[in-house]
Amino acid sequence: MTLSDLDRLLAERHSCRAFRPEPVPKDQIEQILTSASRAPSWCNAQPWNIVITSGAETDAFRKALQNEVTTGAPEPDLPFPTAYTGIYQERRRECGWALYEAVGVQRGDRAGSAKQMMENFALFGAPHCAIISSPKELGAYGAMDSGGFVMAFTLAAQALGVATIPQAAVASYGKFLHRYFDIPDDRLILCAISFGYSDADHPANGFRTDRADLDEIARWVG
Ligand SMILES: Cc1cc2nc3c(=O)[nH]c(=O)nc-3n(C[C@H](O)[C@H](O)[C@H](O)COP(=O)(O)O)c2cc1C
Repeated sequence: MTLSDLDRLLAERHSCRAFRPEPVPKDQIEQILTSASRAPSWCNAQPWNIVITSGAETDAFRKALQNEVTTGAPEPDLPFPTAYTGIYQERRRECGWALYEAVGVQRGDRAGSAKQMMENFALFGAPHCAIISSPKELGAYGAMDSGGFVMAFTLAAQALGVATIPQAAVASYGKFLHRYFDIPDDRLILCAISFGYSDADHPANGFRTDRADLDEIARWVG
């Protein structure tokens, strides 16, 4: 494999916000998990644990989550960012606007943007959802290791033509997820990954995000 193969995979992967309903065969999900498990972790602790829904269980979860969002309050295990300022605020706005533009929500249309945001809790129509957790005692490093797992999961999936989207929005209902999936309280729920086959013609999948130039992210010493 060459760097250009990897670059192509990296460039093809994007966050999918509209899925077709067909399920991913279980052996392919197993392949994705096996490949993603090659992610490095401090002391090779492999702190990630994944609860994966399929079929009617995904639909039941989707319904229960949507109900929780309309009746309950967000209670994430990991504190959400306190602020996005400066360049981070700019990038956040840019990708938000790109999505809203793609789906025809005008700037300032709060009802329209809220409706699109709620698609998170419908799992964007995905047939599967993976809930990623890490032991509380491993703290930020367990979360960091699991971030590598999430990245590897998205790339392995992409290599099999399976589309993904990591979702902090789902993890914001952490307390509910612990109850619903019986995830012990000594684990931190980090994020979800909804996945399946892309509804490629859906407007929500009709934009791509940019990346900063190297001189914005790297400082050379020597
Ligand atoms: C940890 C994590 C959490 C994310 N949470 C959400 C989310 O809740 N909802 C959403 O629409 N996108 C979410 N995303 C997707 C990002 O918006 C997306 O990765 C970013 O805009 C770059 O676009 P790309 O993935 O298409 O390259 C998340 C991504 C990551 C890595």
